Amino acid sequence: MFRSHTCGELRLSDIDKTTTLAGWVQTIRKFGSITFVDLRDRYGITQLLFSESLNEKLEPNPLGREFVLQITGVVNERSNKNNNIPTGEIEILVNEFSILNKSITPPFTIQDDTDGGDDLRMKYRFLDLRRNAVKKNLELRYAVGRSTRNYLHEQQFMDIETPFLIKSTPEGARDFVVPSRMNPGQFYALPQSPQTFKQLLMVSGYDRYYQIVKCFRDEDLRADRQPEFTQIDCEMCFVEQEDILQMFEGLVKRIFKDVKNIDYSDSVERMTWENAMWTYGNDKPDIRFDMRLCNLKFPAHTFPGRADIAALIAGVDFKVFDEAETVIAIAAPNCSEYTRKQTDELTEWAKRPQIGMKGLVYIKCNADGTFKSSVDKFYSEDKLKAIAAATNAKAGDMIFILAGAEERTRKATSELRLYLGQQLGLRRSDEFKLLWVLDFPLFEYAEDDNRWVARHHPFTSPKPSDIEIMINNNPAIENAAEYLKHPYANIKANAYDMVLNGNEIGGGSIRIFQKELQQKMFAALGMDEQEQQHKFGFLLGAFEFGAPPHGGIAFGFDRLCSILGGSESIRDFIAFPKNNSGRDMMIDAPSTIDDKQFDELQIKLDLK
Ligand code: AMO
Repeated sequence: MFRSHTCGELRLSDIDKTTTLAGWVQTIRKFGSITFVDLRDRYGITQLLFSESLNEKLEPNPLGREFVLQITGVVNERSNKNNNIPTGEIEILVNEFSILNKSITPPFTIQDDTDGGDDLRMKYRFLDLRRNAVKKNLELRYAVGRSTRNYLHEQQFMDIETPFLIKSTPEGARDFVVPSRMNPGQFYALPQSPQTFKQLLMVSGYDRYYQIVKCFRDEDLRADRQPEFTQIDCEMCFVEQEDILQMFEGLVKRIFKDVKNIDYSDSVERMTWENAMWTYGNDKPDIRFDMRLCNLKFPAHTFPGRADIAALIAGVDFKVFDEAETVIAIAAPNCSEYTRKQTDELTEWAKRPQIGMKGLVYIKCNADGTFKSSVDKFYSEDKLKAIAAATNAKAGDMIFILAGAEERTRKATSELRLYLGQQLGLRRSDEFKLLWVLDFPLFEYAEDDNRWVARHHPFTSPKPSDIEIMINNNPAIENAAEYLKHPYANIKANAYDMVLNGNEIGGGSIRIFQKELQQKMFAALGMDEQEQQHKFGFLLGAFEFGAPPHGGIAFGFDRLCSILGGSESIRDFIAFPKNNSGRDMMIDAPSTIDDKQFDELQIKLDLK
């Protein structure tokens, strides 16, 4: 028997018990003739005391950090208790020990506050994983997975595996491809998601499917993206949008309860995509705080407007506003006392290339009811007061205004809102706010190819009321400049995203299940019949054999875990993640392969 207890287990109630522990040496402290060692395993840390006689035995074989040690000893009450750890009231008086393995000095300290930089920790990820902070994240991940499986199992979902070697049909991200030795010149692709397979399972009658499954996307990386990531992928037959929303609100609430002991009893808020863009400038708004966007001027075709508000800022010959397509304001609560330095810093922030604005206008709504702005030259105090009223600003607030092209300005104001929210402490990582965003546009316009692309994916159904518009209109865009006037621009998708604290944690849709509508969709995306058959013949074929109405959703498992863990970076919630260049620093992948492998694959490498 290697051990009788773990290093996180023993308490005062175990005093005088004989115990055998095994683990890694975390720290060694010598005090004259005695030595204290902190021994660590997955379950915790226990203090060991090597008395004078044993200390002599240690002399010829000194212990080092991360040595693997087995000891037998007696549980003793500590005189110097440590209330920070559960085993802090006891220590083990060691009788015997055995060094099971040595360790060279680790490249960074295996502690919560490690001295290791990102690259080093990635290279030695197996050591990083010994750290409590990372272990806690993986434990949380495991708990989320377990809770998910329990809930879905209780709801009669069946876990069915789908293949990883599939066909390349890029839409959205790029595929990772895998050459086939047995079919020279042909390639598999790794799935970006099991989308078509889960739909085929519905055709097969497995009416509630799920899988916690790896997906692969060759896209540019960000903190919330990895080239291989995990989805909680689900699909159901004979459902409408409302059934899906209910079922998966239930899942997320169950996860909150099981993992965080949070009773999320509020019903999940719902917002249309248009409303989200209009009030938050963002299709995944963080609704933990208010600070809504207020359009002072807007392109009439994009959002419903208010001419009375637009009139407020016009007619004073202020070119920045006059020449802008859009002018958007937000009121930052209790910020009217911001100093010149602070407003200058914010202006610089808005001018950064990532934000891309030319400047930032501000209006101080002073606590005494007066107003002061960076545009006093153009606007009388009465006008500032009227603008403040339109913006819903209160005395003590500071209004920030951005002006420019619609898309960029809306995005920039959304970023400013999030930035200020962060600065003002309004985005607490221990507060959780869920939101459904509904009624996305079905299509997006791809300027480069002058054609439509599917906003979600090509299997998403239009809203039932919009199906006729899709069928009865020609998708061709005659006049690129006026694409917004095309009937397709207004078709809404039967799709939904779940947003948690401003992050898209899941997305899905009710699917097209009729062959003709699916063909119409492919055609709208610019696929002729031959291409449709080549890429999706299997699906169109299956739709001829009694495909039931169906829909589903997939959650970003890593993202969900990281947000529940209070972090926006998913890397720390993945045991072996890739770095920002898509490399696994530990195993050094990707790497070159042998000439022999190229020969077998009948591939000639000719790098440009
Ligand atoms: P979608 O592409 O929206 O939908 O993906 C679903 C969820 O997966 C997460 N996600 C990612 N997480 C980490 N790294 C990435 N690179 C990454 N890309 C996406 C997001 C996202 O909400 N088949 C459809 C789902 C469906 O229609 O049922 C799909 O894959 O949290």
